[in-house]
Amino acid sequence: GNTPGAGISSLRFPELRHQSAEGDAVAEGHEIQTVLRWGDPILPDAPEFDPLRQSAEAQARQFGYNCDYLDFFPLPRGSRNSGHGVLVVNHEYASTQLMFPGLGAGLLESRRRVDEAQARTEMMAHGASVVEVKRGGDGRWAPVRESRFNRRITAGTPMRVSGPAAGHPRLRTSADPEGRRVLGTLNNCAGGNTPWGTVLTAEENFNFYFSGEAAEAGEQRDAYKRYAITKAGVYTWGRFEPRFDLDREPNEPNRFGWVVEFDPYDPGSVPVKRTALGRFKHEGCTHALAPDGRVVFYSGDDERFEYVYRFVTARPWNPDDPAANRDLLDEGTLSVARFEADGTVRWLPLVHGEGPLTAANGFTGQGDVLVETRRAADLLGATPMDRPEDVETNPVNGRVYVMLTNNVLRTEAQVNAANPRPRNVHGHVLEIVPPPAAAGAPDHAAPEARWNIFIAGGKPGVDPGAQYHRATSDVGWLSCPDNCAFDSRGRIWIATDGADDAAGLVDGLYAADTAGRGRALTRLFYQAPTGAEVCGPRFTPDDTTLFLAIQHPGEDPDSSFDRPSTRWPDFLPDRPPRPSVVAITRRGGGPVG
Ligand code: FEO
Ligand code: CA
Ligand code: CA
Repeated sequence: GNTPGAGISSLRFPELRHQSAEGDAVAEGHEIQTVLRWGDPILPDAPEFDPLRQSAEAQARQFGYNCDYLDFFPLPRGSRNSGHGVLVVNHEYASTQLMFPGLGAGLLESRRRVDEAQARTEMMAHGASVVEVKRGGDGRWAPVRESRFNRRITAGTPMRVSGPAAGHPRLRTSADPEGRRVLGTLNNCAGGNTPWGTVLTAEENFNFYFSGEAAEAGEQRDAYKRYAITKAGVYTWGRFEPRFDLDREPNEPNRFGWVVEFDPYDPGSVPVKRTALGRFKHEGCTHALAPDGRVVFYSGDDERFEYVYRFVTARPWNPDDPAANRDLLDEGTLSVARFEADGTVRWLPLVHGEGPLTAANGFTGQGDVLVETRRAADLLGATPMDRPEDVETNPVNGRVYVMLTNNVLRTEAQVNAANPRPRNVHGHVLEIVPPPAAAGAPDHAAPEARWNIFIAGGKPGVDPGAQYHRATSDVGWLSCPDNCAFDSRGRIWIATDGADDAAGLVDGLYAADTAGRGRALTRLFYQAPTGAEVCGPRFTPDDTTLFLAIQHPGEDPDSSFDRPSTRWPDFLPDRPPRPSVVAITRRGGGPVG
């Protein structure tokens, strides 16, 4: 057909042509279903969505805003059922200007105008949703309204703190003098899961929620600054709830920026903030198994010049004894990556008492190292990256792929081998190759690995340094890689965020082989509605459904609830756009792609 690279790539779908549209689009031969939308009732007592009468009480029972990570847990538990399961979906943030009437356009401006009821609705629109979903005989996916699995987690859900920083003096507040019980999770971006069947939700830009003079004048101002906590903040929750006011609760921000674990099959389970995995702007947290059974978790810290991390559990996973795995995430070694110019990755352990991580530098114990993970990593000489977003292991080739979304602030003097472009507008994808262990399996726990650049974003032949397979077409190139997934054949599916600003393209989902003649030959599969980014790509175990989370549709300049740039996915008059989970299937059945 008209797809360059046909016959080279293992992908069968014809390349989608770019368009700028109020709706979304998918490659020929596939169809899109909307499964869950912002405001859809989740709990049995939830009211129907009414955007003109939205309240915190309603929102706490409905699907939240700005869906990001999503994961599919088959039912029954432990099966590989691809037609019935539990979806877990993160709700990263509130696009305030699109949620409420009358606030006008502009994210920051609208947030300055919210009243208390709206701020509390924003709080309930955060967190995660757990929803039972089922594919009917007609092939359509639908939520199960009365399911016992359905659950909302919000900015107010009680959580436990565990690991070396639990109970640390810097985690204690007036509401929680023990430093072991936190209300809520914030800015849950990407995530991951564990071999023992729990889900990990990652707290990213937690700094946005705090404000107060203490950001500049308080005792912890240097530590705040390292996480970009500012006097003004980005939300105005501190006006209505004292714990978000740094002048009243200076330790509250230390209780965010963690990876949170919960059991998606147990709606009564208390989520746990696992401090051993460090405190930073966790984009996500995905796992691989080391040959000896220890579990390795990769996580990016998404900010310009931040780092890539790895956590290795102290003990192996025991598939036969679920109880033995319950607190596996509380003990292990957190490391940060240094990407050497010779193609080596060195994993530098963040262990109290080793190297510079001592009392002389203000670290009295491992709890301090974890609360100030970024400063500890600075002292070890980690490599500053171009905004590490998703980091995921390809289950087929065992290699690890690091999405580096962009970094326009990097100067000529700041380039390094792994981040070679100054003013990196379009981002790139690194490939980490762990060394083989004795039996040939990749050793994700080894102290070193190899790295190379898999692709570099931008238009080939136009943007300096753009790098793909030479057959990549004039619409197959991408900009701003953010999330990724692998199908069961080991092909990579890359979702973008920010291609509109960077390249004048609507964000989308691209696929490529990672091996063979079609390696790095990217091809556009799905295009989001205007203003949206594509998140969460997740295949069912048999690849017949691809779930996507479409985040912030209509988030364009001048777009607001009253005058949105799109009304996707409902396209009803007076209906704002709604962040939604969609399911993509192949017409006539079979694997997607
Ligand atoms: Fe929430 Fe780094 O994207
Ligand atoms: Ca992201
Ligand atoms: Ca992003």
